[in-house]
Amino acid sequence: MTIPQWPISGERELELLRAVLASERWGGYHEFVGRLEREFAAFQQCAYGVSAFNGTVTIEMALEACGIGAGDEVIVPAISFISTATAVSRVGATPVFVDIEPYSFNIDPERVKAAIGPRTRAIIAVHFGGPMADMDRLGALAEERKLTLMEDAAHAHGSEWKGRRAGSIGTAGSFSFQNSKVMTAGEGGMLTSNDAAFAERVRAIADQGRRPDGGWFHHYSLGTNYRITAWQAAVLLAQLERLPEQNCRRMRNAAAVRNALADVPGLTFQHVPPKSGVHANYLLLGRVDAKSLGKTRDEFHKAVVAAGVPCTPFYPHTLYRNPLYRAGGCRVEPCPIAEACIQDAFWFPHRVLLGDDAVTRKISDAILRATE
Ligand SMILES: Cc1ncc(COP(=O)(O)O)c(C=O)c1O
Repeated sequence: MTIPQWPISGERELELLRAVLASERWGGYHEFVGRLEREFAAFQQCAYGVSAFNGTVTIEMALEACGIGAGDEVIVPAISFISTATAVSRVGATPVFVDIEPYSFNIDPERVKAAIGPRTRAIIAVHFGGPMADMDRLGALAEERKLTLMEDAAHAHGSEWKGRRAGSIGTAGSFSFQNSKVMTAGEGGMLTSNDAAFAERVRAIADQGRRPDGGWFHHYSLGTNYRITAWQAAVLLAQLERLPEQNCRRMRNAAAVRNALADVPGLTFQHVPPKSGVHANYLLLGRVDAKSLGKTRDEFHKAVVAAGVPCTPFYPHTLYRNPLYRAGGCRVEPCPIAEACIQDAFWFPHRVLLGDDAVTRKISDAILRATE
């Protein structure tokens, strides 16, 4: 069984990389960088895109541009990659960890509501694995309590909520182009937004406090250099051309794998709310009920890997159990669902969803056998 490799690249990347090589601008002012920002922002239904060298600094920039810092609290899910929380800490604010929903793996709006306190300034919704968090309820809550709603869309290139794309609903969407992401240049990131003033502030942070109408040596605010290179932009432009077709392929193959395993007792795949229809399928997530399956998550994981299908037994701990946060510097709400997922959840990387029908059938069969 040949599992598709990731990243996927081709002649188009080479063609665009050669164009950069032949140019005199290899850095962030090459026309490809602006083009990538415009085209990716438009793809996410946003008016503005600001690129940066990864999807961690993009979250930091977004918080900084909203004036969030010391004394403020930001609500984040207990399940995510560490950047969602460390970005909050690095701007001097305090992350507040709240629970996720049992099967969407996304932040639970009810738990968010219960966690809001006098110092709360923002909520970061992570669209975990691809399907978007409940943007209706989180949006209403943010509006009612006058909080900033950010989208950590590192897993959600092209994902939709009632036809609106990730990054276009909150103040900003933060995207990652790190090696495993569905669109990659090895490293890279982008903030998308429909708020012109916000985008201008973010641009100034990423580009040494310059203004579009100011000179090279004129710096109007405290910024830094987070610019990406033209090499990254070249590769990402080619990746963006392939993304819509790959998203469709992942949707189709994810449905096929789920169908093939639908009758297995004790195996539950991520619930995708109908409002979060099209999504990137960055991860194919699920949970094991050991009693019904007759196997623990770890036994299931071992059997799947032995059958040749790459699989990860979820995160080793909730974010707040990392040594960093065990020492304090955060507020932790009760998170029984997140804790349960640490014991019983798993994910398949998106490359298992990029094969043709025959490969997808073999993958489904291999997973099915691993459940027996
Ligand atoms: C949910 C989430 N947020 C943020 C990031 C950070 O992105 P990057 O690795 O580009 O800094 C990641 C990356 O793995 C992620 O999974």
